[in-house]
Amino acid sequence: MWCLLCVVICVPGCISTDGSGPDHLYSALAKTLCGGPVGRHMPTEKKKQQDRYPDKSPNKSLELLRECEEALRTRPARLHRAFSYQNLSGDLHQKTIRVMQWNILAQALGEGLDGFVRCPLEALNWSERKYLILEEILTYQPDILCLQEVDHYFDTFQPILARLGYQSTFCPKPCSPCLHLANNNGPDGCALFFRRERFELMGFTHLQLAATHLHTNQVAIVCTLRCRETRQMLCVAVTHLKARSGWEMLRSAQGLDLLSKLKTIVQETRRIGVDEKVSRMGVPLLVCGDFNAEPSEDVYRQFATSSLGLDSAYKQLSCDGETEPPYTTWKIRPSGESCNTLDYIWYSRQHLSVDAVLQFPTAEQIGPDRLPSYNYPSDHLSLVCDFSFCNSPE
Ligand SMILES: *[C@@H]1O[C@H](CO)[C@@H](O)[C@H](O)[C@H]1NC(C)=O
Ligand SMILES: *[C@@H]1O[C@H](CO)[C@@H](O)[C@H](O)[C@H]1NC(C)=O
Ligand SMILES: *[C@@H]1O[C@H](CO)[C@@H](O)[C@H](O)[C@H]1NC(C)=O
Repeated sequence: MWCLLCVVICVPGCISTDGSGPDHLYSALAKTLCGGPVGRHMPTEKKKQQDRYPDKSPNKSLELLRECEEALRTRPARLHRAFSYQNLSGDLHQKTIRVMQWNILAQALGEGLDGFVRCPLEALNWSERKYLILEEILTYQPDILCLQEVDHYFDTFQPILARLGYQSTFCPKPCSPCLHLANNNGPDGCALFFRRERFELMGFTHLQLAATHLHTNQVAIVCTLRCRETRQMLCVAVTHLKARSGWEMLRSAQGLDLLSKLKTIVQETRRIGVDEKVSRMGVPLLVCGDFNAEPSEDVYRQFATSSLGLDSAYKQLSCDGETEPPYTTWKIRPSGESCNTLDYIWYSRQHLSVDAVLQFPTAEQIGPDRLPSYNYPSDHLSLVCDFSFCNSPE
């Protein structure tokens, strides 16, 4: 099988060079998209049995990883990151849920507006950068994947990840800055992927965030999932709040709006009470996002103190249980260097426990030119956590 894979991968012309070529990644793929029009948040009919499980043989994930390695063979070694574990009282027999949060950097913005002066344009060449992004995802194999700044959903991430067994939905920004740039690939937005083998989609909502009743250009997705094995329910949200300093008040208003909508969705899910446990205990919640806000900002405090009982996963697993990582993004623009903590994975501490987090690379590993670079595709680092449900299902 190894030899066969190798031959397949090395055949010239098999690897796309411009992102639109007819290589096998981009051929007509299974149509498993669940997104579509903005939906009301109501549990949907159970999907039919036939599309429950992805085709597992051959190992497509391994196949694609090899393809990534081949496409990236001239790039420097990728950052090595280890997990740090916390061994709590959790049910050891329970399979953990791996969650990845990542602002992958919109291709149009990376090449255009963002002005990463220490990153050569060549390093951002989509025909290779897409493999760096896919490789990062495949390396950690998340069960739930929350992405921001996705401007290659329909031609890249949706079809490829569907083939690997993910179901997904995409919510573009109503007025994406990408649309003003030359050679854009459409609007950027948030995307949420989950493994169909592990979860069943019960309902989803696309939200346009409001600030004191006015619509803003920022969005969120909320999905209600049910674990196929344990039948546990789980609400997962992904968002990307307004960027840049000077917009703290707007981020704060967007955060409040998202929190209030999440409360409604969680209550509704609880009321519909798919099972008795949900009615009694409430619904576990995960909120992943690029909040564009340091921990000192209002919007962070609102999430940390909300009645939803949320905690930040990386803070929880820090040395003292009180500290966010020193950075989740690090870049050099004409205006200077910025090294900030802006990305978070929030979880409801009553329902979930964090078992592990993926550590961040050191300044030395990242290198003097910071991010993005030849060996890392985004100005934001990925956040990866393993969760388990606090109470094993009765
Ligand atoms: C991008 O990379 C591909 C494959 O390595 C190469 O063929 C192409 O010329 C590059 N494009 C630019 C603009 O450098
Ligand atoms: C497929 O390969 C991945 C590594 O890329 C591994 O984690 C996974 O367990 C493999 N799946 C099967 C079904 O062998
Ligand atoms: C915690 O769990 C990890 C992963 O299961 C294991 O490798 C590690 O040895 C454990 N640490 C302790 C202190 O038990």
